[in-house]
Amino acid sequence: MGSKFLLVKNKVKKFKKTVNVDGDKSISIRWLLLASQAIGVSKAKNLLKSEDVLSAIHCLKKLGIKVKLSNDKCIIYGRGINGFKFKKNLTLNAGNSGTVGRLILPLLIKSPYKIKIIGDKSLSKRDFSRVTEPLSKIGVEFFPKGKNRLPISILGSNYLRPIKYYEERGSAQCKTCLMLASLNTPGEMQIFARKSRNHSELMFKNLKIPILIKKKRKIDFIKISSPKRLNKFNLDIPGDISSAAFFIALTLLSENSYLVLKNINLNPSRLGIIKILNKMGAGIKTKNIKSNRGEKCGDIVVKSNKKLKGINCPSYLNSSAIDEFLIIFLIAAKSRGISYFKNLSELNKKESPRLKLGSKILNMIGIKTKLTNSSIKIYGNPNINLNKNYKIKNYLKDHRIMAMSTIAALTCGGEWKIYDPESIKTSFPSFIKILKKSFGVNFK
Ligand code: S3P
Repeated sequence: MGSKFLLVKNKVKKFKKTVNVDGDKSISIRWLLLASQAIGVSKAKNLLKSEDVLSAIHCLKKLGIKVKLSNDKCIIYGRGINGFKFKKNLTLNAGNSGTVGRLILPLLIKSPYKIKIIGDKSLSKRDFSRVTEPLSKIGVEFFPKGKNRLPISILGSNYLRPIKYYEERGSAQCKTCLMLASLNTPGEMQIFARKSRNHSELMFKNLKIPILIKKKRKIDFIKISSPKRLNKFNLDIPGDISSAAFFIALTLLSENSYLVLKNINLNPSRLGIIKILNKMGAGIKTKNIKSNRGEKCGDIVVKSNKKLKGINCPSYLNSSAIDEFLIIFLIAAKSRGISYFKNLSELNKKESPRLKLGSKILNMIGIKTKLTNSSIKIYGNPNINLNKNYKIKNYLKDHRIMAMSTIAALTCGGEWKIYDPESIKTSFPSFIKILKKSFGVNFK
């Protein structure tokens, strides 16, 4: 890439392909953090090699963990629970990653020295009080006091106590933060969490951490006692459905095309995109489903579809599609009728204000929207056929805005200049390469 903008001048030509996408980001980051707390040498295959994951590795290395990353695997030399080498004046850079920033903190709750956490411009605008408040109740201190954005410093304690925590946003990051804190907190941590992705729970079970989960209709009750030790563990990481989502959209919105996406993580708590699109008439199928350490994985089969219809999207699907809404909005824009998505204020708290920017991009291509702080109505037009020039700029380098815009350009026509294309490297570094090699896209 390297260039200032990506130029897209033509729609994608019809295709029939089988494609692999990069490894799952949530699972990659969780594996790294937990393997660092295990005793011995853990290995992962197909770890995502994106900037967010490299930020996690960078933090672990600064904390004295040896990590070896090669083309086909990643090896972590874990030092056991709280086995980090804490030093004075340490600064950890979480880069663009909310997950790294929020999930490294609970591993530092016994640090005898202050550790400063910093992030890039986008991450420094995001709310950290959602994790510093519950961690403060456990007995950890944060500086400057009351500050809820990075940079923040954390000072651990030897007098930690477990809490009852009510996670009401449906945020897997908040839930996981408390789950990781339980590794170092004596007694029983109790978490009442609105439904969200459950990769952490599955990994905890695999690691034989004493965890009890009671699933209710709207919340999960999770009780964890601190384990004595964690044993090393190997993992084969499946493809990321959040990356696959862009090619699902490319296929649905193109003419006479067919795509198989191989070995994708199909954890039910991540399947919102498939459920939403199938309610819109997409007819997406899954096959070859296997279980991989409790995580369902398999292939996704998708065909072009000219009969997509709008949806009044039920809010219970929000958290299982939280990273896919930008691309879902684009699909709604090219569907028949009005779509309505609600209770989505969290979307404006991501790498960029996605509800606002998503709406702005749709307006730019002539799609009417009605926007509030937490909802959007999209007046779809299946016959969008663009022929003007479009620019995507100043979007806080949000990787998912970049990918959504690229798919819009490849399916709606017009000439697009998409600035800061390297932003995609935070989550899906092979995006451009796959578009060129598998879909024959020619970026001028
Ligand atoms: C993630 C959880 C989600 C998601 C993010 C990754 C995770 O954030 O948007 O990209 O790995 O736990 P929230 O938990 O804040 O909703």
